[in-house]
Amino acid sequence: MNIKDFKIQWFPGHMTKAKRMMESQLKLVDVVVEMLDARIPRSSTNPMLKDLLGVKPKVIAINKTDMADSSKTELWFNKIKNSGHPVCKVDCSTGKGVKQMIAAIELAAKPVSDKWIKKGVKNRPVRVMIVGIPNVGKSTLINRLVGKNKVVAADKPGVTRGQQWITIAKGLELLDTPGVLWPKFEDPYVGFALAATGAIKEDIFDWEQMVELLIAFLIEKYPSDLQTKYNIDLETSDNVGAVLTKIAVSRGCLKAGGRLDMDKVYQLVLRDFRTGRLGRFTLDEP
Ligand code: G4P
Repeated sequence: MNIKDFKIQWFPGHMTKAKRMMESQLKLVDVVVEMLDARIPRSSTNPMLKDLLGVKPKVIAINKTDMADSSKTELWFNKIKNSGHPVCKVDCSTGKGVKQMIAAIELAAKPVSDKWIKKGVKNRPVRVMIVGIPNVGKSTLINRLVGKNKVVAADKPGVTRGQQWITIAKGLELLDTPGVLWPKFEDPYVGFALAATGAIKEDIFDWEQMVELLIAFLIEKYPSDLQTKYNIDLETSDNVGAVLTKIAVSRGCLKAGGRLDMDKVYQLVLRDFRTGRLGRFTLDEP
């Protein structure tokens, strides 16, 4: 099985709708935070956003750092920083790095707020929105920020009913509705990375094929995690099937009559991977 054969049945309609919505939301804000998944910084980046943003400032927030390989996160962080983008690392499940993210937004917003001050406009808040692929943690971050901050009623022109602004720092308001970036998966590896981390629904790809690719990746890059977690010995000649069988035996994934329950093993591995129980992994090489 080859990564090139991994296909996603995606629907261009989704992408068009998301793009249109994003365009109207972008008109309301001065700065955008693009949230990336630390496990897949490249695959969770949407190349389309650059055109949509134009000159609007962007801050990149690398989320789920608690689930990623920390040495790779460091490399990704430096790579993005060196390319000239404001970037920060966050863990929205605990709130780690959120303060630094706000500081990065304030810094990116400075030219905008300076412009308002020059024009003599006082107390014009800088408006921000969070965008990112599904499941990257946008709502978790917003909930965290809503928790301790004031929600401002949506009385601004052009705001969809029900949308609200959250004051996240002095003079800084965040749109409570995140922008969903439908990922691009023309590249089969990107499709695989998004599927493995749970960014796309399981009905649009071959689930077993994805788990097999994931095992192949882990055998190559993180064999010791597999060995330790499942208490198995890996031989250099072990292929994906052999490793899945070893895990099934070690974990007692059995059907009636003592046959191995491979379906259960696939589910087990994927669950352990997605919950972080198997370890911390980065699928995209910096
Ligand atoms: P979204 O709005 O971008 O679609 O993502 P959302 O906030 O709903 O987050 C998706 C899942 O990711 C949630 O898990 C959330 O708790 C988790 N999450 C968000 N940020 C972090 C982080 O920094 N670290 C970790 N480990 N997890 C994070 P969930 O509620 O269990 O939902 P589900 O994915 O199991 O359905």
